[in-house]
Amino acid sequence: MSLLHPFSKKIIAWYQQNKRELPWRNTKDPYLIWLSEIILQQTRVEQGMAYYLKFAKEFPSVKELAKAENEKVMKLWQGLGYYSRARNLHTTAKTITDNYKGKFPEQHEDILLLKGVGEYTAAAIVSFAFNKPHAVVDGNVYRLLSRVFGIETPIDTTLGKKEFNALANELLDKKNPALHNQAIMEFGAIQCKPVSPDCSVCPLNTMCFAYSKKSVSKLPVKAKKTKVRNR
Ligand code: ADE
Repeated sequence: MSLLHPFSKKIIAWYQQNKRELPWRNTKDPYLIWLSEIILQQTRVEQGMAYYLKFAKEFPSVKELAKAENEKVMKLWQGLGYYSRARNLHTTAKTITDNYKGKFPEQHEDILLLKGVGEYTAAAIVSFAFNKPHAVVDGNVYRLLSRVFGIETPIDTTLGKKEFNALANELLDKKNPALHNQAIMEFGAIQCKPVSPDCSVCPLNTMCFAYSKKSVSKLPVKAKKTKVRNR
C-alpha cells in the first residue's frame, strides 16, 4: 500500500473546493483532452477556451479533424499564435487515422511519438483520459514544488527536469492520477501564482520551505533569463 504525502491530501482537498469549471475536465475522450492540451501549451485558459469549444464543435472526433482541409484548420486557429501547433495538430490527426484507424492510442510510449506531443502532454493525456500514473510537470508544477520543497536546481536544465519529474511522480496519488494531476496544476496556477501569491490563506503554508524562509519570490530558479519570444 502506498501512503499519500500530506502535500497530496492538501492539494486534492483544496482542488475540490476551488477548482474552475473547465470544459475539457468533463471528458475522458483522449482526442478532446489532447486538443485542449495542445491549445493550452502556449495559451492562457481564458483565451484558449473559445478556441477549444470552436474546434470541438467543428471537429468532434479525430477522424473529422483528419479529413478537414488544412486551410480550414489554420483559419480556425487564427489569432492563437504559434501556428506550428495547428500544423502538428492536423498532421497528428491524420497519423492517428492512418496508423490507429482513428482510435486514439492508449499507450504512453505511442502517445509520446505523436508530433507536437512532449513529456508534459503525454502525461496529461494518459492520466486524464486513462487514469494512468504519469505525473504532469508543467510550469505551475515546477513553481509549486520548488517553493514547497525548497528545490533550487534550475528548472531549465536536464538535472532540474529529472529532479522535479522524480519528485512529482513520488508525490502522485497512484490511485487517482487524473484528480491529482488536475489538482497540482490548478493549485500552482491559482494559489501558488508566479507573482504576489496570497500565502496567508495557503493550505500548504505550514509545510512550505519558501514561505518559512521568505524566499517565495526567489523560486523557481532558472539558469537562463527568459527570452522574449515573437509569435
Ligand atoms: N493548462 C494546461 N492544461 C490544463 C488543464 N487541463 N486545466 C487547466 N489548465 C491547463
